[in-house]
Amino acid sequence: MTTSATRSMYPQDVAFAALEEIRDSAARTLPRDVLDFLEGGAGRETTLRANLAAFERRVIRPRPMSGVSTPDTTTTFLGVPLAVPLLTAPFGGDALFHPDGHLAVARANELCGTASIVPEAGTYSYEQLAKTAPAAARFAQLHPFDHFEQGAERVRAAGYTALCVTVDCPTAGFRVRNRVNRFNPDLTFFGGNLLDVGTPDVAEMFERLFRHDAPTWDWARLAEATRRCGMPWIAKGVLTAEAAGRAVEAGASAVVVSNHGGRQLDPAPASLDALPEVVRAVAGRVPVALDSGVRSGSDVFLALALGADVVVIGRLAAYGLAAGGEEGVRRTIELLTEELRTLMVLAGVADLRGFDPSLVAVR
Ligand SMILES: Cc1cc2nc3c(=O)[nH]c(=O)nc-3n(C[C@H](O)[C@H](O)[C@H](O)COP(=O)(O)O)c2cc1C
Repeated sequence: MTTSATRSMYPQDVAFAALEEIRDSAARTLPRDVLDFLEGGAGRETTLRANLAAFERRVIRPRPMSGVSTPDTTTTFLGVPLAVPLLTAPFGGDALFHPDGHLAVARANELCGTASIVPEAGTYSYEQLAKTAPAAARFAQLHPFDHFEQGAERVRAAGYTALCVTVDCPTAGFRVRNRVNRFNPDLTFFGGNLLDVGTPDVAEMFERLFRHDAPTWDWARLAEATRRCGMPWIAKGVLTAEAAGRAVEAGASAVVVSNHGGRQLDPAPASLDALPEVVRAVAGRVPVALDSGVRSGSDVFLALALGADVVVIGRLAAYGLAAGGEEGVRRTIELLTEELRTLMVLAGVADLRGFDPSLVAVR
């Protein structure tokens, strides 16, 4: 063991020195069934594994002696300024991971200059989030069911910039780990937006998600509902050129290339593998975000290089939350940012406009 008198190469007095420590701390903190709910996927978890493998398969082509020293990571997404091209994903049941749930996530985003996609099925309401961290609570996720227009009206009144409509969840995925665990959480953790507002109760909403005879929406119905509400909206859950085209035709202002973190269709294409096809189909008409499988700063780099304008983190943010509430999420974003900036220097990328697919090769 060595110590240095005054200065050290690496931060010494930090609770979490790396994302791996945050994940390990979360795994130690959470009960087994909650950890499985967080980490698990649908079916045989082929999509879940494919998401990670798609990042593993790619390498960054170095650009030595590029002269880049202080990369600029600032950008905007649908007019919202971001210090780093990162958003946190809408994950429901957030107080299962930490009592402060998305309140802590949004506060951490506010400190980092990043933003939250606030979930419909979260522990806290859209209004509570907007009040707690107005600079970060910019996007509000909704499922396209009957109560959509009431929800959208609340989101608008609370001052959000855009809706984020989950298009890949007409019914909940076949989640084997939850079945094996007989997972039976207190549904109020998912009901922050449903309590006391006269909308269907939590149990009823969940029953719908797990039934296979509930009415589901198509693109035409979504186009009509979003046109009536008049807010910009993001289509979350696009994996093909065809779906991207349908979303843009239906009026989406952005798309999220996502397979819901491997929690819905299984087997499905890995999100990173689907990204180039979607970027080509969208052809610059709307910005493209990506989630599913991002676990490091190098994953953020690869997604940006392959055409994502912004990257969304689900489980990483939830690990941070479980490990240390607001501080854990803040540290997660800080570590991702630090690694991204390091890689931008090593690969000679001065700013976000400098990302392009020629920076990436397949191993
Ligand atoms: C515990 C958990 C709950 C989630 N709940 C929702 C939800 O209610 N609505 C939704 O659109 N996506 C939901 N997602 C999916 C995330 O928004 C996001 O697409 C996914 O986590 C990204 O993959 P990653 O976890 O590999 O980063 C959830 C994800 C997790 C892990």
